[in-house]
Amino acid sequence: MLLLFVAAALALQDAEVEEQPGPAEQQAQSEQTEDATGATPWQAQIYSGKPAWTREDMESGRDGWDLAHKCGGSLIAEGWVLTAAHCINAARIENGHRIRLGADYIDNDEGVTYRIDRMVRHADWNQKQHAYDVALVHFVADEETNDSKSGPVEGIPLYEGPPLGAGVAVYATGWGQLDETKGSGFEAELTSVDLQTVDCSTYEQYQNVPDYQLCASGRTPGDDADTCTGDSGGPLVLEGDVPKLVGIVNWGVGCYRPNSAGVYLRIDNANFRDWVARAMVSDPSVSELR
Ligand code: ARG
Repeated sequence: MLLLFVAAALALQDAEVEEQPGPAEQQAQSEQTEDATGATPWQAQIYSGKPAWTREDMESGRDGWDLAHKCGGSLIAEGWVLTAAHCINAARIENGHRIRLGADYIDNDEGVTYRIDRMVRHADWNQKQHAYDVALVHFVADEETNDSKSGPVEGIPLYEGPPLGAGVAVYATGWGQLDETKGSGFEAELTSVDLQTVDCSTYEQYQNVPDYQLCASGRTPGDDADTCTGDSGGPLVLEGDVPKLVGIVNWGVGCYRPNSAGVYLRIDNANFRDWVARAMVSDPSVSELR
């Protein structure tokens, strides 16, 4: 996997971005592992730069990188990462949470990291209801920023078409848990999971999912492919010659459950593209936007 990553990095140096294997090819190259490397140049990590471990953390036996990991995100423009609202707050900015880009593994200082200096959260975000769970995070370089161990970094365009119906092939990437058990630990290597959009109303637990969210499950009956805790804020991508960002990992009832799905915030011509554009040009004093 590491070799693949280096090859991809070299390809980028030669400005031959097309030579990077797509997620499907990467999947094929490591057929045995359920989730192949998800290294994509727009994947961002939100993590605690100056971790203050609790007693519980210390006793968990988990590694520092694992305890520091918070969320995924997507680079969508210079200095801007799109994520979930529940991934960021004023306290996290204050205490030195950072953005990592250009990383496949998050346990070995891969990638290039930046200080978060601002957030714009959706003003109607409601954590309990998983409502309007979208935020933009702005980042800047500081004395810790060093790109000598960075893989390719490139933004992903937002999907511009009409809202997706059911049965569309998409994929999600992240360092999230492979098990729904609370505190089961994050994954050191970025993984990619193939999904398809499904109709939320076919699931008892998702009857009240609003139109601005979509559900996605595994692609074949019985395939429990899903995202999970720690994948939040990360990208749901529409496959194609030019991959497009069509969703943000938001929530779910458990993870990897049979006959279930995950819930994603939609990004399309009817949902949030306008909000994202307004947020990026808003006055720097703005931290909540409707
Ligand atoms: N809220 C989770 C997070 O903070 C994401 C959960 C997604 N769940 C699912 N079953 N797809 O990382």
